[in-house]
Amino acid sequence: MRNDKAQFSTRIGVVAVTVGSAVGLGNIWRFPFEAGMHGGGAFLLLNLLFVFLIGIPVICAEFIIGRNTGSNVRTAFRKLAPGEPWGAVGYIGLLSSVLIISFYSVVAGWTMEYIFRSASGFSGVHSVAGLHDQFDSFATSDWRPALWTVIFLLCNYLILVRGVEKGIEKVSNVLMPALFLILIIFAVRSLTMPAAREGLEFLFRPDFQKITPSVVLGAMGQAFFSLSLGLGGLITYASYFNRRTSLVRTAGITAGLDMLVAVLAGVIIFPAVFTFGMEPAAGPELVFEVLPSIFCNMTGSIFWSTLFFILLFLASLTSTISMSEIQIAYLMEEKGMGRRKATNVAVLIAAGLGVLCALSFGSLSGLRVFGMTLFGLFDYLASNILLPLGGMLISLFVGWRLKREIVDNELLYGRKTIFRRMVICAIMFSLRYVAPACILLVFLFGLGIF
Ligand code: PHE
Repeated sequence: MRNDKAQFSTRIGVVAVTVGSAVGLGNIWRFPFEAGMHGGGAFLLLNLLFVFLIGIPVICAEFIIGRNTGSNVRTAFRKLAPGEPWGAVGYIGLLSSVLIISFYSVVAGWTMEYIFRSASGFSGVHSVAGLHDQFDSFATSDWRPALWTVIFLLCNYLILVRGVEKGIEKVSNVLMPALFLILIIFAVRSLTMPAAREGLEFLFRPDFQKITPSVVLGAMGQAFFSLSLGLGGLITYASYFNRRTSLVRTAGITAGLDMLVAVLAGVIIFPAVFTFGMEPAAGPELVFEVLPSIFCNMTGSIFWSTLFFILLFLASLTSTISMSEIQIAYLMEEKGMGRRKATNVAVLIAAGLGVLCALSFGSLSGLRVFGMTLFGLFDYLASNILLPLGGMLISLFVGWRLKREIVDNELLYGRKTIFRRMVICAIMFSLRYVAPACILLVFLFGLGIF
């Protein structure tokens, strides 16, 4: 059965697709705006803590489940625990992926608009206020953001119908290094700005008084979102891994690079925010207003900003591909659909909900649930609630329910050195106690139950 499945062809490919899924708007758009709203350094510190304490072990747990069963998130639990309620994890994952891709595509659509704006030199507008107005009138204009959302999903579609190896792996291999390079160039530019010091202090000096329950919940949600964790995306990808892939190594590299990109984004954004006297807590529009201001202050601004938004668009694409792949693998393996039909269904649902999210900055901005727009609600529900919930269940499953042999077999694969055994013990300890307890506590505090 496993042999009929598509597999990623090279080791670097495995790392590149996993990092490709993790690195995206979550690092470059969501991390800075969440950190900006939630107290900077304190948020970063908590975020790092969650990545290492919970993130890496849960990535390993998803990898173990995926490679062992060679299946999508729903089938995997059905195979490992037939007839048991664990199968619900699959549905939580599917629901999260639908919610996330809907609002994510809107922001990816903004990125596409900004490719063209960059190329036109932002129509000569250079002032912070002017760039703010430009963003505002675009995001609230309804049809343009909605159209871009659909166009973005079409690009997603074109890669997805071609299948896993041909599409995803190739894009990721080239993209990640390029993105990384350009981020470093911008970071250098930002660090030479007048208020660089203030910006770095905001990002790196934790003010513990700023830690409130909602900051803790937000930092945990960000860790899950940014690592593409808790919804079975990594289960699906690991089902395409071959036997030689080191799961722990891949998990470590993914988490490390993902955090690095987020921190780099922070290093780019905050010095500029303070230099231009902007508001760090501006929300989702933060990055789309700050970055153009940085670009306008660089030589060759049109070249750099256009290139940057192209790379950001591609990075979003490698992330949404992994979200859609969760649903497509499910529809193919559980519902017996062909690849094309499954892709049609997944992309159509995303387009319908995506357009609603796009409109929630314009005509639908009055539609509020718990005080949030549809866009905000989808993000909050998926990132802060469903992903950690999924992560908690996945860690409990691998920690307590899955046969230990399977864990050893996937993580040791024959090389029983003491170091490896210690690493496995640490991972199992987190999966059994640390991760579930942490997530539960954060829920109780963050949601005000406690
Ligand atoms: N981790 C991705 C990012 O940071 C978003 C994502 C979430 C991708 C969940 C897949 C699944 O942009």
